[in-house]
Amino acid sequence: MDPTATLARRFWEAIEPIHAIAYFAPEPAEAARKIGLRGFWMGYFASRVAPLGPVPAEAACAMAYGFSPAMVARAIPDAWRFADPAAIVISRIASAAEALRHHLDGPAVASLAELSGLLWDAVAGCRFDGRPLAAAWSVVPRPEDPVESAWLATTILREHRGDGHVIAAVGAGLRGLDATLTHIATGAITRKLVQPSRGWSDDDWELSARRLQARGLLDRTPAPGARATRPRRPAHKDRRSAAPRCRGPDRSPRRRTRREHRRNRRQAGHRPRGAGQQASDGRRCHSRAEPDRRAAAVSPITSPVGKDGDEWLPRRIAAPAATPGPPVIIRQAVASDRPALAEMLARCSDQTRARRFHKYVRCFPEPYLTEALAGCAAHFALLAQTGEAVVALASCVATDRGSAELAVLVDDSWQRLGVGARLLSLLVAHADQSGLARLKAWVLASQAWVLPVLGGYGTCEAWLRHGVFEVTVHRGGP
Ligand SMILES: CC(C)(COP(=O)(O)OP(=O)(O)OC[C@H]1O[C@@H](n2cnc3c(N)ncnc32)[C@H](O)[C@@H]1OP(=O)(O)O)[C@@H](O)C(=O)NCCC(=O)NCCS
Repeated sequence: MDPTATLARRFWEAIEPIHAIAYFAPEPAEAARKIGLRGFWMGYFASRVAPLGPVPAEAACAMAYGFSPAMVARAIPDAWRFADPAAIVISRIASAAEALRHHLDGPAVASLAELSGLLWDAVAGCRFDGRPLAAAWSVVPRPEDPVESAWLATTILREHRGDGHVIAAVGAGLRGLDATLTHIATGAITRKLVQPSRGWSDDDWELSARRLQARGLLDRTPAPGARATRPRRPAHKDRRSAAPRCRGPDRSPRRRTRREHRRNRRQAGHRPRGAGQQASDGRRCHSRAEPDRRAAAVSPITSPVGKDGDEWLPRRIAAPAATPGPPVIIRQAVASDRPALAEMLARCSDQTRARRFHKYVRCFPEPYLTEALAGCAAHFALLAQTGEAVVALASCVATDRGSAELAVLVDDSWQRLGVGARLLSLLVAHADQSGLARLKAWVLASQAWVLPVLGGYGTCEAWLRHGVFEVTVHRGGP
């Protein structure tokens, strides 16, 4: 006899607290940090998908369906640079068991051992068709320790149920956020509770609500924190196969506007970037044929950091549990920084250099470096330094009246500590003070997670060409 939905739900409610200790107790988060993962959410996503190995962001997004892809991509695949998936699995199981022992009393821990056997019987009854997370956890070797064993069994069962949700929602033609909105519409959870921890923007939310309303699944857009109406009817099966119809050629007005913009630029005498045009950083940049316009763009130079630089504590050092370390000084780059900058670039991995310059470079392109260190008004360069070592270099290069190009490079061992974000905020502050309202950056397609970071500074347009996003941030709107 099939179990009733009520029984299945009661079963989940009974075991969820055992599994979920991994998300709410400090031990697992601390263990993830100790093995090298950076930040809670990197620990969260990496620890959930680690049994599948070093999966790409797309695969993790497909499984962590209720989260915004941009949020997942902030953690995956970067997490695999910091910790091996096998080590993550071991650490997660051990730390969850440690948390259970710490937070439960003796008799409860003893009963977990008995429960473990029953849970594994339940696991033996599972099928894993279409359930990748549960399938991957089901082949993790069963630990001898009874508490670890109980936690692993609840994890398999919990992911089995979660994968089932994805199957059901996708089958109903719902995207991840749509499924969340229908859940909110039942009144069981609120937007206020869910939105901040799932990474969806207000625009995503609005679009999803409109999609559901158009299908008659939602009566009206739920206001933040409000209880919403229930979906009126189940989804239609045909919608499962509707996706390919959405993939026609892009005929959006935005695209046409873009073409018109390019034509207008040509008519105004701007040459398109390309062969024969020297870029200031060796990659792509402003027209060197128009130096006067660049200099006029920011004059005199305005700096958001003090004369001797600003002292700042990166996240790792600022974290209460961490050992205090030296602060980072952020200041304008000067000519005498040349050797330290060369040393920093030499320490950077090939991947980091390629991400910055879109090709493998041994040293900073000379015209770029000379300009960055010259203190000229059009090229505002900031560096981050700890002790004698330079750990990051960032530039805001005025290209035209009102426009500038941004670029940031952080030494590998200082990445994911907030240095890049801090430098970016200072570059934007400089741009604001200098009246530069259009900020451009070129970002490799594999670095798409940078887009929401830039988007935090204004209305963001991004055009993907030959594997590179040309991003324009309009401060205060386009
Ligand atoms: C891009 C770069 C500048 C980011 O600097 P950083 O100091 O590592 O970034 P931060 O620690 O300040 O993180 C900023 C945000 O980006 C996210 N992020 C940083 N690195 C990430 C990565 N590899 N994958 C996904 N998200 C990442 C962080 O989660 C953070 O978001 P949050 O505040 O919401 O958590 C740095 O990785 C770098 O120098 N890369 C090589 C050069 C490059 O790609 N430059 C960008 C194009 S010019």
